[in-house]
Formats: sequence, C-alpha cells, structure tokens
Amino acid sequence: MRRPLVAGNWKMHGDLKRAVNLARAVCAGAPDAVDVVLFPPYVHLQSVVDAVDATSVEVGAQDVHSATEGAFTGAVSASMVKDVGASHVIVGHSERRAIFGDTDDGVARKFALALDAAIAPILCVGETLTQRESGNAESVVLRQLDAVLERVGAEGLEAGMIAYEPVWAIGTGRTATPQQAQEMHAIIRDAVARRDEAVSQRIRVLYGGSVKADNARALFQEPDIDGALVGGASLNAEEFLEICKTAAD
Ligand code: 13P
Repeated sequence: MRRPLVAGNWKMHGDLKRAVNLARAVCAGAPDAVDVVLFPPYVHLQSVVDAVDATSVEVGAQDVHSATEGAFTGAVSASMVKDVGASHVIVGHSERRAIFGDTDDGVARKFALALDAAIAPILCVGETLTQRESGNAESVVLRQLDAVLERVGAEGLEAGMIAYEPVWAIGTGRTATPQQAQEMHAIIRDAVARRDEAVSQRIRVLYGGSVKADNARALFQEPDIDGALVGGASLNAEEFLEICKTAAD
C-alpha cells in the first residue's frame, strides 16, 4: 500500500500574509492518513516552514538550479532550500520546461542535486495537447522519465516521486479523465518496473492538472494514482483540505 500524498503548488501567487495564513489553515485540517506538502514561492519558504512547525505538513520549493553554486544571478540551489527547512522540490514542471527552457538533461541534474541535498524531488512529466493528438503522449512522457532514470537509477528515483501532469489539463479546468490518467500512470509504473519491479510498486505517482474537490475522488479511485499535485485549488484552504480528505478515504 502506497501512502497518499497531496501537494499544493502555489506557483507565483499570494503575499506573505496570505502564505502564512494558508499554511496555518492547512495544518489545522490536514488528515493524518495523507502526506501533505506545500510549495510556496521561494521568498515565503522560511515563513511557511515556521508556520507548519510541529505539524505533519511539509514544505518544498517549486524549483532549484541545476548547479550546486556559482554565478547564477537569481537562482537558488537545492542545498539552500534544504537549509531553510524544505523537504521536497518540484523539478521539471511543464511551466519551467515551456517558459524557462528546462531540458530533460537539466531536469535530471536538478533531480540528482536534490537527492544529494537530501530533499525529495517530485519529477513532473507530461505531454502537450499537440503531442497527445499526434499520438506521441507516451513517448514524450517516457523520454522525460528516462532522462532521470538514466542519471539516478531506480534507487535514486525511489527517493523522490513522479507527477504526471498533462500540459493540456493544467489551469484549463479540463482535467484528464480518470481513465486517461490511469492509463499513463500504468505506463509510467511499467517503465519503472522494467528497471526495478520492487521500486515500481513502492514509488508514488501523483496526478496533476485541474484537480478539484469535485473530481479528486474519481481520480484517487484509480489503482495507480497515489495522490495529487494541485495548483489553483491549493490556494483555497477549504478546497485543498477537501482534496486531502478524499485522498485519506
Ligand atoms: P492546476 O491545478 O491549476 O491545473 O495546476 C496544476 C499544476 O500545474 C500543479 O503543479
């Protein structure tokens, strides 16, 4: 049995006060049976880490740089994120890939540096609508996954997790159907199994893309969906907690 995990990716939203209040509200209602991780913007990391102190809720960064240190103005390293108390980091989010030019190789390096810094990376994979419509969804997702498997192996992968986020479902209100999501989650798990069967059974694969309180239950009922990476709906404590409770059921 894989323990469910629900993550809230706040992206570039909110101010300090809202971040702290949101974190406190999530802590007050988070169910015990689910891992809950919040991903505030960098500048709010320390305050959110303080706000969740002594609760089971954890905090992560939305990205890190692909080098350990150096002259990279504006960038933040995995060890810096660890140092302020973060336990997780998202790598390879489709917005990073599309807007900031993150490559498969760069994402794999970020994943490895997160492991070196002893924080758990969440590897995002997912195809665009054009890639899906041209029949390439599977090959795109497997290419993104393989880049990381090549670099860190199945044992390395196991220290983190995977999030399948079809790009066409992010922020669009158009969620993948539970069947579409399950199909890709099974493909991902099979790909890990070809490297290591035991790891494939233990690794958590989250779904992301317009997850809301009212569609979460059907998604979580699928055998290979182990939780969610929630964007928009994670900015509302009540709705986010509803999703967490659904995962706990
Ligand atoms: P939405 O839930 O807003 O579609 O965002 C999903 C996402 O990108 C989470 O990382």
